[in-house]
This record gives sequence, C-alpha cells and structure tokens, in this order.
Amino acid sequence: MNTLAGKKIILGITGSIAAYKAAFFVRLLIKSGATVKVVMTQSATAFISPLTLSTLAKNPVITGIADGDEWSNHVELGLWADAMIIAPATANTLAKMANGICDNILNAVYLSARCPVFIAPGMDLDMWTHPSTQGNIQKVLSYGNKLIEPESGELASGLVGKGRMAEPENLLKELIDFFRKEQSLTGKTVLITAGPTFEAIDPVRFIGNYSSGKMGKALAEKVVARGGQVKLILGPTKLKIDHPAIEIIPVTSALEMFEAAKKHFAQADVAIMAAAVADFRPKHTAKEKIKKKKGIEEMTIELVKNPDIAATLGQLKKKDQVLIGFALETENPVENATRKLTKKGFDFIVLNSLKDKGAGFNHDTNKITLVFEGNKTQEFQLKSKLDVADDILDAIENI
Ligand code: CTP
Repeated sequence: MNTLAGKKIILGITGSIAAYKAAFFVRLLIKSGATVKVVMTQSATAFISPLTLSTLAKNPVITGIADGDEWSNHVELGLWADAMIIAPATANTLAKMANGICDNILNAVYLSARCPVFIAPGMDLDMWTHPSTQGNIQKVLSYGNKLIEPESGELASGLVGKGRMAEPENLLKELIDFFRKEQSLTGKTVLITAGPTFEAIDPVRFIGNYSSGKMGKALAEKVVARGGQVKLILGPTKLKIDHPAIEIIPVTSALEMFEAAKKHFAQADVAIMAAAVADFRPKHTAKEKIKKKKGIEEMTIELVKNPDIAATLGQLKKKDQVLIGFALETENPVENATRKLTKKGFDFIVLNSLKDKGAGFNHDTNKITLVFEGNKTQEFQLKSKLDVADDILDAIENI
C-alpha cells in the first residue's frame, strides 16, 4: 500500500517558521488520497493563512479563534481521525503536550485523540537541544506518541544544526509506512520466547541470569501493532503485559520453556527466540532447603545440559515457517553468530552488543546487527527496544 486512500488525518500546525511547509504537506496528503482536517494554533496563523490551507485541504480550517462552537467539536475530531500529525510542533506545544496543558484547540484535540499521534518538531537548534525540550520529548514518547525527528541543516535563525522540521515528503512517508505496517502481520501468529530461565537448586535457590524480557515484550507489542497474534513464552520477569492479542505462557525453567515451545510451534508462522535460556541445570533439585554443614567450606553442584529449544524448533521447522535467533557474543561476533545460524536453522540471527553503552540486559535501548546466511550483515544504530523490534519485524517481512 503506497497511499493514504481512505485515511482521515488531522494536521495540527503550531507557530514555527516551518509552518510555511504545511501547504506542501497538505497537497501531498490530499494527492495520496487522505481526507485532511487542519487545526491551527493562533500563532501558526501568523506564519501561514488558514485560507491557503482550507483551499488545499478542501475542508474548513479549525483555529478556535473566531468560532467558539469549534471547541465543542474537539472530542468528535479526536475520534474521527485515523492519525493526527503535529507538524511543525514548537517547543511550547511540546511542553504543553508533555504536561497535559490544554489552553488552545490544538492541545484539546490532541488530548482527545484516540488515534496515533505523530510529532514533527520544528525549532531552533538551541531550543531543540535544551534539556527541557529533550525531557518533554521523552515524556511525550512515553505516552505512546511517535516522533518524526527533525533534520539537520541551515535554520531560519542562521544557525546550522538539528531542529529543522522533516521535509513534507518524509512526513508523508512516515504516515504511509505506519499504515502499511499496521496490517502487515494480520492473520499471522508469532511465537516469542523471552526473559531468563530459573534452574532450581532447592526450593529457595536457583541459577538464573539478568535477562529482563524487555526485548521480547517490545517484539510482542510491535507484532500486535502490525495486526498479528502473539504467543509469548515468558520466563520469570517483572514485566506487565496486558493485551488481548498477546497470550502469555509463563514458564520458570528451560525444560518448561522447551515443552511450551514444542507445543505451540506448529501453529506459529514465525518464531523468535529472544529468551536467555540457561544452558545447564542442576542434575538434582533438593526437595528441602540445602543447609550449611559445619566444617564444609566448598560445595559442588553437578549440572546437566538443557535441551536447545531453538535448535529443536529448527529441526521441526516447515518451509513456510520463519525462525529467528538471538546471540550475545563477546569475541568474533559475526563468525560465532553465523555458526549458530547454521547449527540452529535460523533464517537470521540478531546479534546483541554488550560493549555499547545503553545496549544489552535491562536497558530500554539496544544496538543490534542482523546476521544472515553467507556472513551478510545489517548494522543498526542504538535505538529504543521498540524501534529495534520494528527493524527485526521489517527484516522478517523481507525474507
Ligand atoms: N537458545 C535456546 N535454547 C537453549 C539455548 C539457547 O533456544 N538451550 C536460543 C536463544 O534463545 C538464542 C539462541 O539460541 O536465540 C542463541 O543462544 P546462545 O545462548 O547465545 O547460544 P548457545 O548455542 O547457547 O551458545 P553459547 O552459550 O556457547 O554462546
């Protein structure tokens, strides 16, 4: 799908010089088949005329200045739209969005919107880099809004740097990409293993690892955002996951995870092995708590190998199923990942970095390299785990 045919879009415009680009953007939206309603703040009207925009949008522009009745429509408008995009978004509007301030029609529509909201900031370099703006960006992202990063270049102030609103063509591309992805996994079931496994030593002790399950959660959320169903086989974590399209199958040990994975794999179109599975478990689990014994300074716990869940699914895998693995390597990462790829029958493997700041266990960000057969690699920047999940799903859809 390369259009916005049938999509209802609210374009919110605030008072930044980049507002002049709104005319081009409205034209692109209309050309790609969208129905557009424009909402402007009062200061935006100083940069571009509502008449220009209403002519291009073929709809009256809502400014909330002249007509008090428009205010009563903000809820209706918020429910009407398939997406809202605020472009340009000033530092002032971002601050209001971050704090739920609602002193104009645009912020009222934003607060009422149940649809996804895209924010395309446009401001001067220093305003963009100011800690308060960056803090507000983090806040609005944590509410589930989507950021279309400003671009770098010459700014209206004469400064050169980041802050320039993304070009209208790029804004359009983001919207089209979003709606394309929204349906791309409809009818598909994705099995995900995530989190650590705990291997019991006795009733109160176990061998475990630091995996938080956050990457698996991000993957699950992104699969359902694309219309898919998830079976999430989840080791012990503190995560809260509650979505009707995500079935959680809680497990504790590698053996439990192994049984659950074998049981559910046949119904899966895709399986993603994101769990940090313990390679070994205690040979015997003591029935009672193991007590210290006087005079004994050392103790040995005998371990036996756990089954390899991924490799087993790799053997069961049918032609139309996709199997993705994860690897965490500290030496010769690509070579080692490639060996695992072949050994376990993965379509590709997600190589995790432990060396990069902000990547790995318990972080909300991750830096990955995808490794395909024949040593082919695709490297990505440090990103939020949600964005990493999108990159992984894009690669799965391109297989
Ligand atoms: N994996 C699995 N079952 C296991 C061990 C690993 O399903 N018993 C999966 C992981 O979820 C991951 C991939 O296999 O997707 C690679 O795991 P990793 O622990 O890095 O590989 P190992 O084969 O265990 O190699 P090593 O520990 O020697 O690095």
